[in-house]
Amino acid sequence: MGERLDNCRIIDLPKVKDPRGNLTFIESDRHIPFAIERVYYLYDVPGGSERGGHAHKELHQLIIAMSGSFDVVLDDGRDRKRMHLSRSYYGLYVCPMIWRELDNFSSGSVCMVLASNLYDEADYYRDYDAFLAARR
Ligand code: TYD
Repeated sequence: MGERLDNCRIIDLPKVKDPRGNLTFIESDRHIPFAIERVYYLYDVPGGSERGGHAHKELHQLIIAMSGSFDVVLDDGRDRKRMHLSRSYYGLYVCPMIWRELDNFSSGSVCMVLASNLYDEADYYRDYDAFLAARR
């Protein structure tokens, strides 16, 4: 069940180039395929740290490296791919039922996540085998 890894993709966000500094904007349901209900961000991430390590049943997310860089490993239970995020005008869209792990954080990096729903622990698969069983 659930969408495949191919549905997860880099979205090239609008960028207003300006010698005074560039500007990027994101409109709910317009530049990304879901309405935004929540924003959270990871910061002060110690070197060598790993985040994620779970999948969501229904949540859609857009992951952006607002500062610095990090890797996102995506896994649909069949295929796995590693993406490196380092630009604040690229968003990685992650559809529901995709296992994700984040690592390789550069010092001072900030990972911002736009999410389609409020926080709900019941929406998580935190056990990889349970996730695989649900995908089958
Ligand atoms: P988690 O989603 O596991 O973090 P990550 O995927 O970045 O490794 O969340 C870590 C903790 O923070 C967990 O106890 C739940 C809490 N949390 C909230 O309370 N609200 C939120 O919006 C998020 C994302 C997490």
